Amino acid sequence: MYNEINLDSIDLTTAPPEKEPSRQYYFMAKCREWIKEFKKKNNRCPTAYVQTFGCQMNARDSEKILGIFKCIGYEEADSEEADLVLFNTCTVRENANLKLYGRIGQLKKYKKKNPNMIIILCGCMMQEKQAVDKIRRSYQNVDIIFGTHNIFKLAQLLAMKLLDESGNNKMIIDIWEKSTEIVEELPTERKYSFKSGVNIMFGCNNFCSYCIVPYVRGRERSRKPEDIINEIENLVADGVVEVMLLGQNVNSYGKNLDNPISFTELLRRVENIEGLKRIRFMTSHPKDLSDELIEFMGQSEKLCHHLHLPLQSGSSRLLEIMNRHYTKESYLKLVDKIKKAVPDIAITTDIITGFPGETEDDFKETLDVIEKAEYDSAFTFIYSKRTGTPAASMQNQISDEVIKERFERLLKVVQDTSAKKAAQSVGKITDVLVEEKNAQEEGFVTGRTGQNYLVHFKGDKSLIGKIVPVKLCESRGFYYYGERC
Ligand code: SAH
Ligand code: SF4
Ligand code: F3S
Repeated sequence: MYNEINLDSIDLTTAPPEKEPSRQYYFMAKCREWIKEFKKKNNRCPTAYVQTFGCQMNARDSEKILGIFKCIGYEEADSEEADLVLFNTCTVRENANLKLYGRIGQLKKYKKKNPNMIIILCGCMMQEKQAVDKIRRSYQNVDIIFGTHNIFKLAQLLAMKLLDESGNNKMIIDIWEKSTEIVEELPTERKYSFKSGVNIMFGCNNFCSYCIVPYVRGRERSRKPEDIINEIENLVADGVVEVMLLGQNVNSYGKNLDNPISFTELLRRVENIEGLKRIRFMTSHPKDLSDELIEFMGQSEKLCHHLHLPLQSGSSRLLEIMNRHYTKESYLKLVDKIKKAVPDIAITTDIITGFPGETEDDFKETLDVIEKAEYDSAFTFIYSKRTGTPAASMQNQISDEVIKERFERLLKVVQDTSAKKAAQSVGKITDVLVEEKNAQEEGFVTGRTGQNYLVHFKGDKSLIGKIVPVKLCESRGFYYYGERC
């Protein structure tokens, strides 16, 4: 198992190995030596707090980051008052950046109390030059900055900081323009013992005209199927029953491999893993969702009946300017095809309002698709101008008042549609994977249906990680109250 790397057997008197991941194991062992000293001096373990912003990709990256911290001897902290604080950042919308500056500012008071505290920033926002320049100028309390392409180097960068005897306290900045390799076999620390995200690919080649992700995550790269299968087999051996295969556009998985395979072929192989009970995936770009996949969704025993299919806009005119490569009509046809193949499929989506040049008619087309597609839920976003993307330099930006008014209408239609959709399943019995004790109600647990709805029902913590049949008794919008059968 990756988590059982034996750091004690590494010879630290020699130079670090050149090859990954051995090179990183060497630096982990170095950091661990430092931590042993810390423990002797302070009579306690140093603590690390990791906070994740953004999407599932970042959440999975944070599990890898925490895996490295734990492997070298940090104890996980549950607040920012820790010996090490790491923010894994997102930059998909501008307010994500603004929030982060606020959070770094707030750390000043903790660093004053504990001057040896280490502050690390990483993730998508660190791939933006202006953001890093601003941090360098205005937030000198930050110790280490790295980006999305060299997360695997964390132990090496930390060793540089911990073992630096120069006393000059310089900020370490290591940001790469692109990825050179995918480093496998680093430790991970899962948030849940029974489910896990699994990266199948990194980056994105789609360049939707509003989106910064391809610029900060680089070009699309698929992991080898053997590595993915090996990781999932190890996860299953460690108690995982559900995996979520992650990629910005999973439907184009495998195209750039030396031996190309389709996403559906990968799913077939994952389906054959004994002991694995549920498979999810995210995200599907409508332009690449194949008939082969739809057919497999109808046959598979393990694929959850949930599909996240971002629409962005219902206006074919805007979709073209967004560079999405589908139309309102082709999208709706696709939705119909999926519903025929998998009648109880739950479809969710992402919608942006206020894209440059969006007219009232364009907006009405979006509302029309929401009603026709009958989404189970939708993430709704106000368009945010991202420097460097084609949409940012479009002349016809929409005024804040118009956007605000449309956003409110959008929310209302989404809420009404979701409520109607959720009500249709009341009375049904469905399998629920129990995730946690319900924080609000004593004696209740919360789990997820295959369709990705939350269900609260009576039960105790012995059910966590188990899949049990539950009757959906009452719908409360995005969650149900149920009864165990
Ligand atoms: N790869 C995924 C989405 C990643 S970003 C996909 O293509 O579906 C998640 C969502 O953020 C997008 O689907 C989009 O709805 C939203 N988003 C991206 N850029 C945005 C921007 N500039 N303004 C507002 N929302 C944006
Ligand atoms: Fe962004 Fe489009 Fe890539 Fe999704 S597919 S990450 S929206 S560029
Ligand atoms: Fe944000 Fe990066 Fe994900 S920009 S949405 S964390 S890929």
